[in-house]
Amino acid sequence: MDKATKFYITTPIYYVNARPHIGHAYTTLVCDAIARRKRMLGVDTFLLTGTDEHGQKIERSATAAGMTPQQFADEVSAAFRALFDKMNIKYDDFIRTTEPRHQQGVQELVKRLQKKGHIYKGKYTGQYCVFDELYVDAAGPGAPCPECGRPTETVSEDNYFFKLSAFADKLLKLYEEQPDFIRPETRRNEVIAFVKGGLRDLSISRSTFKWGIPVPGDPKHVIYVWLDALCNYCTAIGFGAEDKAAQEKFNRYWPPDVHMIGKEIIRFHCVYWPAFLLAAEIALPKSVIAHGWLLFEESKMSKTRGNIVRAETVIDVLGNDALRYFLLREIVFGQDGSFSFDALVQRYNSDLANDLGNLSSRTLTMIARYFNETVPYPSATASLKKADDAVRQQAETAIAEFGKLFDDYQFSRALEAAWSLVSSVNKYLVEQEPWSVADREGQENRSRLATILYTSAEALRIVTALVHPVLPESTAKIWQQLGLGDISKFDLATLKWGQLPLGGKLGKIIPVFPRADKSAIERMTQLEQERNSANAPSPSSGTATASAPAAAAPQPTIPAPQGTQTQPAAAPDGKISIDDFLKVELRVGLVKTAEKVKGADRLLRLEVDIGTEVRQVVAGIALAYEPEALVGRKVVLVANLQPRKLRGLESNGMIVAASVGEDGKPVLAGFLEDVPVGSKLK
Ligand code: MSP
Repeated sequence: MDKATKFYITTPIYYVNARPHIGHAYTTLVCDAIARRKRMLGVDTFLLTGTDEHGQKIERSATAAGMTPQQFADEVSAAFRALFDKMNIKYDDFIRTTEPRHQQGVQELVKRLQKKGHIYKGKYTGQYCVFDELYVDAAGPGAPCPECGRPTETVSEDNYFFKLSAFADKLLKLYEEQPDFIRPETRRNEVIAFVKGGLRDLSISRSTFKWGIPVPGDPKHVIYVWLDALCNYCTAIGFGAEDKAAQEKFNRYWPPDVHMIGKEIIRFHCVYWPAFLLAAEIALPKSVIAHGWLLFEESKMSKTRGNIVRAETVIDVLGNDALRYFLLREIVFGQDGSFSFDALVQRYNSDLANDLGNLSSRTLTMIARYFNETVPYPSATASLKKADDAVRQQAETAIAEFGKLFDDYQFSRALEAAWSLVSSVNKYLVEQEPWSVADREGQENRSRLATILYTSAEALRIVTALVHPVLPESTAKIWQQLGLGDISKFDLATLKWGQLPLGGKLGKIIPVFPRADKSAIERMTQLEQERNSANAPSPSSGTATASAPAAAAPQPTIPAPQGTQTQPAAAPDGKISIDDFLKVELRVGLVKTAEKVKGADRLLRLEVDIGTEVRQVVAGIALAYEPEALVGRKVVLVANLQPRKLRGLESNGMIVAASVGEDGKPVLAGFLEDVPVGSKLK
């Protein structure tokens, strides 16, 4: 096969120190959507994902959970795989860095670096962030990690070093000559500035713990986990393998067309990785694309912040396609974007249940009713109206625009282009009133009816084909209902107006996007809470990062933090004992000051007197309360939550409020009688 027709795309491989959440699901489903479109266009596509299982962070997490690192990694890696299967991700391989094929490939690459003289032995004394597995040069003992803010640890050990400093000019030349190597532009500028700031040689081994791949020729050292992990992109497709089939696979797919990553790991992918490859004389990836973060209640969704939402929760209530559509439509790809159940349900109802769902069910039901479930022939005699022609033109524009925008990673705008066709056809139906035409007698009316329904069905077919990579399950159903069989066999490259087979028999019509009522939000919130409290000791509860900012909820409406070992264990019926309840310290507080938090629409910074001290609390109530209205007001505070940071401000406690209505509007708890400040609630 011609090499130009291959497409190799990778997700980051995920750490197994915590179970997957929507953040991990996001990157993976973006890659899946891209890969599905490529496959539909007839390109030989390979999608790789997997898990990153070595290193000090995982070793510590395993110890904290009372497991061996391998047992621990097996359990969490299986959870990632199960999620991706549930999400119907069509990955071509799932690599685990504890697999022998990976170990062999990594050692082969390191041997090449050794042979070519890029590695030397030295001593590293300096700071290390175990959470990010990052050497933090030029920082003093205890200094915070510049990436995550956690305290760094002082490391002093014999290491092997990679001569990274020798690659600065080559890297700058790469960014210059291959401007698409890093996308978007802002990240490219960041990387260029970092390299121009000077590169130090990089320690690529550790010798004070064991959980890793031994350095060839010196097994007392394990290979630095980032070098180990980055190699997955080549080991998974056969680098370093002895068998011929694996080597052929490597020759076929290497180099990667796209490494898709979150923006926080850009340095590893755009500085270290190309430097390793240049040194080993292996072809460079074509592009690294860094997307933004999913935020939940204003901060990056992550296990240690305790503000995660699980993909399973959304899938169980609204289905896979709802999650995929929301993330690709609502988040401007490349930028940070907020996730909320409210916005999710709103999008689902307006775009899927209403717009696309209505177009599909109206069109198909009318064809079934008026034309005996058979695609009608648009009239050759009855003149085509301007409106019919406009739909055809809009469909042609949608095909061109959708492709252009999607292939430029502008998923939200691509979907907008497709939805503009959906809206136009819905409007066309309202204006043409096929139901009234059907009531009128005569051949001309019959022909007109046929033309309207054909036009609408053909536009529906085109939208369905275009958005299949984003909504694989529901579009497969609509395609079947249009009588077109298996959508995965459709060649997207041939898509154009006029291909709907005339006289074709429709499939069975069933609603594809049932409307979600407000109980959907309640069910998702409930499911999250149940999953949080089902905290049997497991890798999700034992954590190596126990010293990290703990999981305190910042505001009343946030789902409870993910299970930690200190959380009360819930009985199978979800009930807790009185002892568990008594662990929660609730106190009456008096709001002394209140102000908006800059750059965060929903947050207020409050100072709350709780009798014994004045606490700073950051609460997500800004949309419901003006700061001035709160000063002097008595509130109920959860006083023994561990502090957490929101927008750089430490929040020490949580204000209790009811969550009211579909939007979950916070209404603060209060008292009818006067209550002294500091009183305990029980
Ligand atoms: N193991 C490294 C990557 C090695 S790749 C050779 C790692 N793992 S991770 O488990 O922390 O996953 C990080 C990636 O997960 C991010 O780069 C991003 O792709 C995804 N996300 C995790 N949390 C996310 C959000 N809150 N929002 C968006 N993506 C997120 O780093």
